[in-house]
Amino acid sequence: MESQDFLSAGGSAQKRDEFVERLLKATRGVFEIFSIYLGVRLGFYEALAAGGSLTSSELAARTDTHERYAREWLEQQTVTQILAVENEQADAKARRFRLPKAYVEVLVDQDSLNCLAPLARLVAGAVHPLPALLKAYQSGDGVSYADYGVDMREGQAGINRAIFLKQLGQEWLPAMPDVHARLLNQPPARIADVGCGAGWSSIGMAQQYPHVRVDGFDLDEASIDLARKNAAEAGVEDRVQFHLRHAGDPQLAGRYDLVTAFECLHDMAQPVAALKAMRQLAGETGAALIVEERVGERFTAAGNDIEWMMYGWSVLHCLPVGKAENPSAETGAVMRPDTLRRYALEASFRTVEVLPIEHFFFRLYRLHL
Ligand SMILES: C[S@@+](CC[C@H](N)C(=O)[O-])C[C@H]1O[C@@H](n2cnc3c(N)ncnc32)[C@H](O)[C@@H]1O
Repeated sequence: MESQDFLSAGGSAQKRDEFVERLLKATRGVFEIFSIYLGVRLGFYEALAAGGSLTSSELAARTDTHERYAREWLEQQTVTQILAVENEQADAKARRFRLPKAYVEVLVDQDSLNCLAPLARLVAGAVHPLPALLKAYQSGDGVSYADYGVDMREGQAGINRAIFLKQLGQEWLPAMPDVHARLLNQPPARIADVGCGAGWSSIGMAQQYPHVRVDGFDLDEASIDLARKNAAEAGVEDRVQFHLRHAGDPQLAGRYDLVTAFECLHDMAQPVAALKAMRQLAGETGAALIVEERVGERFTAAGNDIEWMMYGWSVLHCLPVGKAENPSAETGAVMRPDTLRRYALEASFRTVEVLPIEHFFFRLYRLHL
């Protein structure tokens, strides 16, 4: 048995060496992610993508950075095999570096479903409040979403942006044919998007369904400001409005044809109160859609193929954020389907249906009244 083998004394030197190797590889990964963070935030990749091949002075001049730092980063990126160097033997300052074409989409093209630049910002955001996090682990208190700062907020916005603009309206909502038909029809359907963050889900739905009106709700002020800016830039601000509100606010009023919560219920201190509010907003005829992480049905030592990541977010961010209010359900990112079912039933939904959408990270739940 794998677990017994793992715990047995036999072969312990080999296990030790494999573990040492694994931690060294993990450290390499951490350095890669944080050096990518520098490249994203300082505009290095954009400049390289636009400039063909650049020397360190050219990169520094185009990004308003210091040549010596730019040169160290270029060399590091080359050794880590993200960048290519054209003239390895030349003097350090004469070397020309370029970003391989295949990587431009991943590091620069924010419209691509393959863009992972925001992941580096999310990781940086997750460790931004480390001292507060250590204290929280001792006191049992939480750490607020705002304390995770701009990288968490903008990284979260960026990582889901293309999914919301390219898959949500095109593939996910049509998986509920009655809802899809209602959103296409007149009079204009109304959507409430709870925990909307930077608003890309609201904007994506408005772009795909040209009549709908969307209200996005979030309790993070900076996210609401960003969402308003994003909606204005996308040209949908006449149909998409954002409101600074708590999802569990019993005063949330209105009647909506669709009420959504994307990747946020597990972050909420009071998910049942939020679901009750969603149920109220949906009335007797509206639909409710919850999108959450595709974690396994139950805890197993091996986890499923995304739990390594979801537990990672959870220990650093989602659980502490969910504990920032008192009382808290203390859910964490690994919210199993049974937990969601329990919350939904407590909030007076009748049944929970998993929609037939295959997504690597997400599972889509339709909550029935
Ligand atoms: C992980 S982010 C997801 C944002 C967005 N839905 C997305 O998918 O990109 C979680 C969001 O939930 C919001 N949130 C957490 N608790 C909330 C509550 N009680 N009411 C409203 N928003 C809440 C946070 O402010 C944050 O913007």
